[in-house]
Amino acid sequence: MGGSRGVAGRVAASAAAPKMVPMPAGDSFFIATPIFYVNDVPHIGHAYTEVAADVLARWHRQRGDDTWLLTGTDEHGQKILRTATSHDVTPQAWADKLVTESWKPLLETVDISNDDFIRTTDERHEKGVQRFLQKLHDDGYIYQGEFEGYYCVGCEEYKQPGDLVDGTGAFEGEQVCAIHSKPVELLKESNYFFRMSDFEQRLLDLYESQPDFVQPENVRNEIVQFVKQGLRDLSISRQTFDWGVKVPWDEKHVVYVWFDALLNYVTAIGYGVDDEQFDRRWPAVQLVGKDIARFHAVIWPAMLMAAGLPVPKAVFGHGWLLVGGEKMSKSKLTGIAPQQITDVFGADAFRYYFMRAITFGQDGNFSWEDISARYQAELANGFGNLASRVIAMITRYFDGTVPVAGELTPADLAVRETELRVTAAADGAMDRFAINEALSSIWELVDVLNGYITEQEPWALAKHDDQRERLATVLATALRGLGTLTVLLSPFMPTATRTLWEAIGQGELTSQPVDRAAEWSSAPTVQPLAAGLFPRIEQPEPAA
Ligand code: ME8
Ligand code: MG
Repeated sequence: MGGSRGVAGRVAASAAAPKMVPMPAGDSFFIATPIFYVNDVPHIGHAYTEVAADVLARWHRQRGDDTWLLTGTDEHGQKILRTATSHDVTPQAWADKLVTESWKPLLETVDISNDDFIRTTDERHEKGVQRFLQKLHDDGYIYQGEFEGYYCVGCEEYKQPGDLVDGTGAFEGEQVCAIHSKPVELLKESNYFFRMSDFEQRLLDLYESQPDFVQPENVRNEIVQFVKQGLRDLSISRQTFDWGVKVPWDEKHVVYVWFDALLNYVTAIGYGVDDEQFDRRWPAVQLVGKDIARFHAVIWPAMLMAAGLPVPKAVFGHGWLLVGGEKMSKSKLTGIAPQQITDVFGADAFRYYFMRAITFGQDGNFSWEDISARYQAELANGFGNLASRVIAMITRYFDGTVPVAGELTPADLAVRETELRVTAAADGAMDRFAINEALSSIWELVDVLNGYITEQEPWALAKHDDQRERLATVLATALRGLGTLTVLLSPFMPTATRTLWEAIGQGELTSQPVDRAAEWSSAPTVQPLAAGLFPRIEQPEPAA
C-alpha cells in the first residue's frame, strides 16, 4: 500500500464508510515539540515546551490512547554553521557535542518520556527531506528564481521591512530584527522557490472550517491576519553555504533550514518508507512557542497540502517565559538552565510549577519567590502532608491494614463526588490544552481531602473504641481520595506519585487509566513513606 493511498483511504473511511481497518485500542495521539537549534544549550523555555508536551503525552498514554511523543534537534543552517565555525569545529562535531552533552540530558533533567528523538542530520531525515522535495518538484510546486531580501540569521528567515525596528546600543542607526535585536543581512541569490502563494485561499479555508487548527485564539487571529495580507512564494534553497540537505536535482543548493526542519514531523514516522507507521501516527498535534507559530500554521500546512498529505490536527502556540518582562532567550543571554531549578526543587516540582502557575497559552514570569512559595504551600504542605498524614494514621490506628468503609455519610459521599467530578474536569481540560485548568481541578481534591480530615478529626475518633467503624470509614475514604489523586497527578509528577503508589497502590501506576482514576485498587496494607514526598528546601535560590 502506497503512503498517500493509505492516508487518503483513512480520511475517506472516517468521513463516510464504516471503518474496516482494525485500529489500536485507543485513539492515535501523536504529539511533537519543535526541534530545537543546537547553537546553544537549553534554557527553561525549551524545558517548558518539553514538559507541556510530556504531560499531555503521559495523560493520553495513561488514558489508553495510542500515544507517540516526538522531540529532537534542528542542526542545519547558517546559525549553527557560524556558531561551529566560531568555535573552530565542524558543524557536525558541534551538533554531536551539544546533542550529547546538553539536549538529550535535558530530557533526563525534566523527566521526558519521549518515544523518539530526531536529529535533522539523521540519514532517515535527510533522505525523507529529499524525497518530499523531489515530489513537490515533480508535481510543479518548485521553480527557480532570483531573490533579494533582508535575512535574520537568528530567526533563519527573510524579513519584511515591517518586521524591522530601529537598533539601539551598538546597533544605533541600523535596522534590526524585532525578535533578536540584531542587524539583518542583505542577501541576493538565485534560489528555488515553493509556490506557497497558491495555498493562500486553501489556508484561509482551513482556518475557517477547522477553527481549532491554530490555538489559542490570539495566535489564530494573528495567523489569519497574516495570511489575509497575502502570501508570497517561499525561497527554499541556498547556495552560499553547504551545511544542509542537498537539493536532490541540483546539488549546488542546500535546502532552506526551516523547510528541512518542519519535515522532521513526518520523516520521524516513516514518511515514504514505512506507510504503516506513518498512517498510524499522522496527523500530529503540534506544540510550539508562539514565536514559531507562523512557520507551523502557514508554511507547514501549505507544504503538506502540496504533497497531498493531511494537515496537523492542531498547532498550539504557547506563551513565553519572561525574565524581567522580556522573553527569555539564548541570544539575549537571559537563559536560566533547567538544572538550576531541578537541583533545588527536583524535576516533579519543576513540572508542577510551570504547568500550574502559567495559564497555558499566555506569557508568564518566572521567579524564585513564586516557585518557592508554591512548593511549600501546594506541594509540601498541601499534597505531601496529606499523603504522609493518611498513611501515618492507617499505620498507627490499623497497623497498616487498609480499613474497610462502613456506612457512608454525606461528608464521605462528597469526597467521592469530588473524585469523579475533578477526574472528568481534568480530562476535559487536557483535551483543550488547558493544562493549568486540569491541575487546578485536581487541586480541588487536595483541598477537599485536607478539609475532610480536619473536619472528621480521625485522631479524636481514635480515642473512642465505639468510634472504630467511623474511624475506619474516614480513613478508607481519605485513602481512596489519595489514590485517585495519585493517579491523576502521575502525568505531572511521575516520581513522587510512583513513590506514593508503591506505598498504597496495586500494580503499575501508569496502567491506571487517568480518565477512570477513582477506580484504582489499593494494596491490602500501606507502607510508611520513608521520607516526605517534598522535603523542606533550606536554600531556595542557588548560590550565584
Ligand atoms: O525555533 N518561553 O528553535 P529554538 C517559552 N529550530 N518557550 C520558549 C522560550 C521562552 N522564553 N524560548 C524558547 C527553533 N522556547 C527552530 C524550531 S521546529 C520545526 C524548528 C521554546 O531553539 C518554544 O517552544 O529557537 C519556542 O518555540 C522554541 O523553544 C524555539 O526553539
Ligand atoms: Mg529561537
